[in-house]
Amino acid sequence: YTLIKDLYAHAESFAGQSITVSGWVRSIRDSKSLGFLVLHDGTCFATLQIVYEEGTISNFQEISRLPVGSAVIVTGEVVLTPNAKQPFELRAASIDIEGSSTPDYPLQKKRHSFEYLRTIAHLRPRSNTFQAVFRVRSLAAYAIHQFFQDRGFVYVHTPLITGSDCEGAGEMFQVTTQNLAHYPLTDHGALDYSQDFFGKPANLTVSGQLSAETYAAAFRNVYTFGPTFRAENSNTPRHAAEFWMIEPEISFADLQDDMQLAEDMLKYVIRYLMDRAADELDFFNSFVDKTLLQRLTHIVNSDFARCTYTDAIEHLKKADRPFEYKPEWGCDLQTEHERYLTEVVFGRPVFVTDYPKDIKAFYMRMNEDTRTVAAMDLLVAGVGELIGGSQREERLDMLLARMEELKLDPENYWWYLDLRRYGTNRHAGFGLGFERLIMYVTGMANIRDVLPFPRTVNNLDF
Ligand code: 4AD
Ligand code: MG
Repeated sequence: YTLIKDLYAHAESFAGQSITVSGWVRSIRDSKSLGFLVLHDGTCFATLQIVYEEGTISNFQEISRLPVGSAVIVTGEVVLTPNAKQPFELRAASIDIEGSSTPDYPLQKKRHSFEYLRTIAHLRPRSNTFQAVFRVRSLAAYAIHQFFQDRGFVYVHTPLITGSDCEGAGEMFQVTTQNLAHYPLTDHGALDYSQDFFGKPANLTVSGQLSAETYAAAFRNVYTFGPTFRAENSNTPRHAAEFWMIEPEISFADLQDDMQLAEDMLKYVIRYLMDRAADELDFFNSFVDKTLLQRLTHIVNSDFARCTYTDAIEHLKKADRPFEYKPEWGCDLQTEHERYLTEVVFGRPVFVTDYPKDIKAFYMRMNEDTRTVAAMDLLVAGVGELIGGSQREERLDMLLARMEELKLDPENYWWYLDLRRYGTNRHAGFGLGFERLIMYVTGMANIRDVLPFPRTVNNLDF
């Protein structure tokens, strides 16, 4: 089959030729003996107009009654139409029906709300918006691999089932065998995990970081890119229970190196998309977010701002607007704060660094002041936190003291602590939420619309 994408790329060379195309019907209209069928074949945004005539094709009436969504095979001649809206059309010699649709096809040609389209997540990838979203998602994933591979990073597949809680936030989904409930209970009447598959409680991972750190101590620079899971009970446009995370980990590196890597990576991906997904980004700029292209261009050309958490709190206290949550030193930044900082105070992406230790995870490196840790979050317009990272605590005694403070059992982390015993080294890393990146580069406002099959509270269809 000739692909519509190739037709657009080399229209002239197809002129006058007989070709066969395959795809799905976007729309059909006919007048007496002449009909127009708009075909989409999945290879690009653009559609192909097919002109068919009674007398030329044998099944004119049948085609004219064909419901939207039907799959067809069309053979015909390519005719250049320099004065028409489309640069060329296909004059059909035959149209074969591969699979008919029905008149109640849920994706009729009209504008549908994103809410409605979520209820048909199995069909929405056939619409223009979701064609664009998921093509960008695919290209962005490729760009990320290319960025790291070009720099010699080793891609590590970290486990999805784990026995530890990386972030220590207790937001994990537990994994048990179906028949655990049938085992005898413990003396305290609780489920007895020692009887279960792993002999202890198992969870879906919230982050591959701790495992990635072990490989960074062997390969120097590594990254993970895989699904992560969080049972966050927050019904927001930015949180999903299953999302993908990119987590590089770099050895003999500090927080400054970490931020530089994050900035380089983000600019690389955006440039890549501006280059390879220009049609899709144009589409988003026209229909989803009119400032998108301007914003993306601004980002690749600007140096990201840097600001300590302590200074950030000062900026927020001086803000000329009321926040729902009052900013105080020691409190975690809320999305409203994050967006104010990046959108109003700095007008570009900003790294906020050196957060109070009490609102950050146990593995972050303690600063000299012993109140803050070498953490960084990258805040961006529209989304808020896009990246969270840190320099890791490489000093065994400091790490143990911190774990004791947080009541984490060192026995559960014996292998992680071994890294600090056997040739410990400075290292740092970060986690980029892949869906938030896709939201950022498309202007899509809800994480449910950049995940093929979103998993959020009360949502497990498909
Ligand atoms: O800031 P977080 O929790 O950091 C970590 O998990 C570290 N272990 C990463 C590391 O240093 N290797 O998560 C990292 C990013 C966030 O900045 C956010 O973009 C995204 O993951 N994220 C979520 N995205 C969608 N839904 C959720 N529930 C998310 N939680 C975090
Ligand atoms: Mg975070």
